[in-house]
Amino acid sequence: QEEVFKKLIAHCKEYGFVFPSSEIYDGLGAVYDYGQNGVELKNNIKRYWWDSMVLLNENVVGIDAAIFMHPTTWKASGHVDAFNDPLIDNKDSKKRYRADVLIEELLAKYDDKIEKEVEKAAKRFGASFDAGLFRQTNPRVLEHQSKRDEIHTRFVKALNENDLAELKQIILDYEIVCPISGTKNWTDVRQFNLMFSTEMGSTADGAMKIYLRPETAQGIFVNYLNVQKTGRMKIPFGIAQIGKAFRNEIVARQFIFRMREFEQMEMQFFVRPGSELQWFKQWKETRLKWHKALGLGDHKYRFHDHDKLAHYANAATDIEFEMPFGFKEVEGIHSRTDFDLSSHEKYSGKSIKYFDPELNESYTPFVIETSIGVDRMFLSIMAAAYTEEVLEGGETRVVLKLPSALAPVKLAVLPLVKKDGLPEKAREIMNNLKFEFKCQYDEKDSIGKRYRRQDAIGTPYCVTIDHETLTDNAVTLRDRDTMLQERIPIDKLPEIVSNKVSM
Ligand code: GAP
Repeated sequence: QEEVFKKLIAHCKEYGFVFPSSEIYDGLGAVYDYGQNGVELKNNIKRYWWDSMVLLNENVVGIDAAIFMHPTTWKASGHVDAFNDPLIDNKDSKKRYRADVLIEELLAKYDDKIEKEVEKAAKRFGASFDAGLFRQTNPRVLEHQSKRDEIHTRFVKALNENDLAELKQIILDYEIVCPISGTKNWTDVRQFNLMFSTEMGSTADGAMKIYLRPETAQGIFVNYLNVQKTGRMKIPFGIAQIGKAFRNEIVARQFIFRMREFEQMEMQFFVRPGSELQWFKQWKETRLKWHKALGLGDHKYRFHDHDKLAHYANAATDIEFEMPFGFKEVEGIHSRTDFDLSSHEKYSGKSIKYFDPELNESYTPFVIETSIGVDRMFLSIMAAAYTEEVLEGGETRVVLKLPSALAPVKLAVLPLVKKDGLPEKAREIMNNLKFEFKCQYDEKDSIGKRYRRQDAIGTPYCVTIDHETLTDNAVTLRDRDTMLQERIPIDKLPEIVSNKVSM
């Protein structure tokens, strides 16, 4: 799987999807740039999300708030005090780790041990093996499980109580070693705030310390009453937003999975107090359906309900996707209570209550949030789409089986040869279609090579213009996935391609 992931990263670079940022200066940690195909895919993902929120739901509208916000925003939101990672250093290797990640890795080791026991027994006993019963009764499995539970209970308690000394104690008690030095020589656990800061204003005394937003949500909270009043919105209603967020992540690895500059698509849904858990449940289902509708494989998704709730939530779940490195969070759905709005009310001194005409009373709405990372969604789609196929002749082809609606290029227009009027005819076709969907003209190299290039960027259709086209006004249409070719009249092209690529 690690091999596949490496290939995927290389593919993203080779075919203009994702480049390391400022690569000529050897890159910048956990910052990436999207190339010519990456930006198209990313824009299509955003459009797919935006339309499903804002077109489909009459009671959801969009905004685009600034990245810079008044610094008090982040006091009110809790990010100044609570948006921290617990860090620990190994004194020998001088390497810094997230204490919680070290402990999570320890828990994963116990899970592995249990799975190995089960696998071993399954091999030995064959078809009659009852894995469930084995897990409940085998002494070795029970021993691992009880150790795991013990660590897990301590870990969750320490996280919830923000008990840094206890996090360190767990690391010592279970003899976690530094992966680099192999020693157990740890410092104390310290907090590290993840927000990037900068200064607004030019003079040293006049400058104000401001933060780059670590989530887009706060731009929605501080505008909720503006939107509610000017849009005459009635509860329940939602506000959607797509935009950049910034976090000074410590453990920044796994390509675009954890970045320091990334993009979020968030929707805050404002509801009557007391109805929030019902809406939470509804949005959970709606969001999972939305993911599955892409057709990447239903079995690749699962929910992960949170043990540890963020400082603002009373229920939270993740939608996880099976990445090449395991099931990982792609989207979070949180019941944020009235935490944010009440807090902004307190800090700003301005009333932001909603008057409910049906109940004839004012209250602070509760909020259900759906929050998805564009980059993670991008990664999940690329990981699911990347396919290596062995063809009949023994040759392999790499094909990105992207959902057609999201593919960067929808149609490649390929004159068979660079002469005899075929390029001119191909240009004519291209000019007719290029306003409807993204087309790409390519006349270089053999037709086989050109097909492979389009397969590698996930183009659902290629059309070839040959000598007969000049007389019969028909072209050969090739399907990316089946590689089947059919002859179709040129005037049928817009309809056929549109049908395939529309959302
Ligand atoms: N407003 C709530 C919020 O920001 P979160 O769980 O911290 O919640 C939501 O983030 C989503 O944003 C995640 O599910 C993930 O897809 C994306 N995300 C968070 N941190 C990220 C990072 N460092 N790099 C890429 N995506 C990230």
